[in-house]
Amino acid sequence: MEAYLFDWLNLFFRWFHVITGIAWIGASFYFVWLDLSLREPPQWKKDQGIKGDLWAIHGGGFYEVAKYQAGPPAMPKTLHWFKWEAYTTWLTGFALLSVMYYWGADQYLIDPQKMALGQWQAIAISLAFLGGGFVLYEALLKSPMRQSPKLFAALLYAALVAAAWALDQIFSDRAAYLHVGALIGSIMAGNVLFGIMPAQRELVRAVQAGETPQAHFAELAKLRSTHNNYFTLPLIFIMISNHYPMTYGHEQGWLVLALIGAISAFARHYFNLKHQDNHQPWILVVAALALFLLIGWMVPKPAEPLAANTERLNQSQALALVEAHCTACHAEKPSHPAFNAPPGGIALEQWSQVEANAARIIPALRTGYMPLGNTSGMTDEQRSQLIQALSSE
Ligand code: HEC
Repeated sequence: MEAYLFDWLNLFFRWFHVITGIAWIGASFYFVWLDLSLREPPQWKKDQGIKGDLWAIHGGGFYEVAKYQAGPPAMPKTLHWFKWEAYTTWLTGFALLSVMYYWGADQYLIDPQKMALGQWQAIAISLAFLGGGFVLYEALLKSPMRQSPKLFAALLYAALVAAAWALDQIFSDRAAYLHVGALIGSIMAGNVLFGIMPAQRELVRAVQAGETPQAHFAELAKLRSTHNNYFTLPLIFIMISNHYPMTYGHEQGWLVLALIGAISAFARHYFNLKHQDNHQPWILVVAALALFLLIGWMVPKPAEPLAANTERLNQSQALALVEAHCTACHAEKPSHPAFNAPPGGIALEQWSQVEANAARIIPALRTGYMPLGNTSGMTDEQRSQLIQALSSE
């Protein structure tokens, strides 16, 4: 029953999180595009205080957008704010993190081969990491560091790479990736709550009072939204990476994350420039080349030949190995209490099922991803034996 409830909560928050995430990132992409696509307005609009002009067609109608130099002459009756997309994305993300990695800590957060943490220890480390990372970012942002945005960005990147490495030593590979994403997402939502919203409130206040808004609010908000802009592609990669054990399960998973993060943020740069009519296609070419190099470097090594004294397994011995290390979870009716249905839809109760899934089992074994948590203590030799039994078919 508990496992059944776990699955539903997991599904519900994941679904909700994806919906709010689309709304947030979608609105953010739209406004970045909008801002960079504004053009010089005709004189009569300039006379009204408009500095940016834009026309669009969508869904069967023309839209005219005007961006004011300072503020409109009078406050409009209805002013739309964009904040709940960000807040609900964070809230649902945190709920999903709590269900999957805190409630399901033994399966998803803790890797006893790396650190044999208890559930509450692991949760405390996770919360301390997220809280500490967030406070560090806010502190850096308020330091003189922000005067040099490029240096700031480099430091931020280095800090995140260091965090990815450290997390990789503590948590399961998958949880390590997810925590980098959770920190980035928290920083992004914090940027909205603690920087962008106050700057907008100041803008509204100044317009209402007929004053010029204080510049420092806007400057800081700009830096924060630039960070958010470059964070989006790496963050979305982390969100979907849990379907690809070849990434986080790689021996140097943290390095793979660092490289994919850098490549995707660089690709984002192309679009930021393009919206301003500054076409720099070489950026995409370099990003694609870097990705190809990475793919080449990550090619899995061929299975190690079995040591001379290692026994080659026949079919029933190989199946016995699967039964010892996999079938508690991978069965139509799993005996493992955390599962209610075969995880990943993969049941491994008969040899034909094992064979049919060989293409996914081999990488899962080779990367050490499976058996999940390895509580049954599968040895490297047993892994090689099973891979061998599946490869020689
Ligand atoms: C403690 C439970 C557990 C054990 C034991 C276990 N698995 Fe899994 N396995 C899972 C879960 C959970 C998933 C789904 C992970 C996810 O959501 O991506 C999974 C996914 C998989 C996948 C799909 C991976 C992919 O996404 O391509 C394969 C293949 C697999 N397991 C093989 C095995 C093999 C082989 C063993 C035994 C050597 C094993 N598992 C042992 C829980 C387990």
